[in-house]
Amino acid sequence: MLLSLQDISVAYSTRKGPVQALERLDLVVQPSSFVSVLGPSGCGKSTLVKLVAGLLKPTTGRISFDGVASTGARDDVGVAFQQAALLPWKSAFENVMLPLRLKGQPTAAARERAEGLLDLVGLTGSRDSFPHELSGGMQQRVSLARSLVRDPSVLVMDEPFSALDAMTRENMMMELQRVWLDKRPSVLFITHSIAEAVFLSDRVLVMSGRPGRVIMDRAVDLPRPRTLDTLASPQFVELCNELRNLFRPDSPMHANAA
Ligand SMILES: Nc1ncnc2c1ncn2[C@@H]1O[C@H](COP(=O)(O)OP(=O)(O)O)[C@@H](O)[C@H]1O
Ligand SMILES: [Mg+2]
Repeated sequence: MLLSLQDISVAYSTRKGPVQALERLDLVVQPSSFVSVLGPSGCGKSTLVKLVAGLLKPTTGRISFDGVASTGARDDVGVAFQQAALLPWKSAFENVMLPLRLKGQPTAAARERAEGLLDLVGLTGSRDSFPHELSGGMQQRVSLARSLVRDPSVLVMDEPFSALDAMTRENMMMELQRVWLDKRPSVLFITHSIAEAVFLSDRVLVMSGRPGRVIMDRAVDLPRPRTLDTLASPQFVELCNELRNLFRPDSPMHANAA
């Protein structure tokens, strides 16, 4: 599915007056492509996620899915947040099933899909475990499976691995690539990790400081599937360095930061 944000501005009203979070932002995620967004803290990345998830309306501008203007939350958009946010009294399987239960009695096919997703994220043996019995990485896997259970055409993820340790994070990155290659949703992936963005993406977008706009759009042409060897390849390292330079204190990206 083609996701398009055109000329988006978002102003929050606060007691101290309006806060301009996003200004004239344009962004396109081509069908089945993986797009990452990097940007300084407070530049409006989570605001972007809420817009795509239909949890927030832009002050001005237009969000569309396959050319049709969005009017709110949609069943075919999956969302994953920074915290796994699982229900502690429900098993891994029941947490994955939750979005389906909210829609009524899940069919046998839906249950089968949930089982399949638990397999896909490597949690077959933990199907009946409760969140407190799972590691942080496993909880995040449940959350990933849950965001995929309605077979979304668009998946939007807000720093989903940022609470995890480095090793788990790397495993999750591999897992996400595998899931994406299997299901091919259009992904908008917010991260603070340049390496993660380059590894996973077809394109990496860089946002300016608040009010956030897209100031760079870089294609990543590394062959897929990407492997641990990719992380050491000269092309990968060079691309990461190029992006890292944008985050130096003297970079133009900080020019309009608050
Ligand atoms: N509900 C809100 N009310 C007022 N200001 C908000 C609200 N949500 C976010 N902001 C402000 O909007 C800006 C962008 O926030 P956010 O989208 O969370 O940025 P990021 O995810 O890039 O760190 C920040 O300055 C933040 O303080
Ligand atoms: Mg955020």
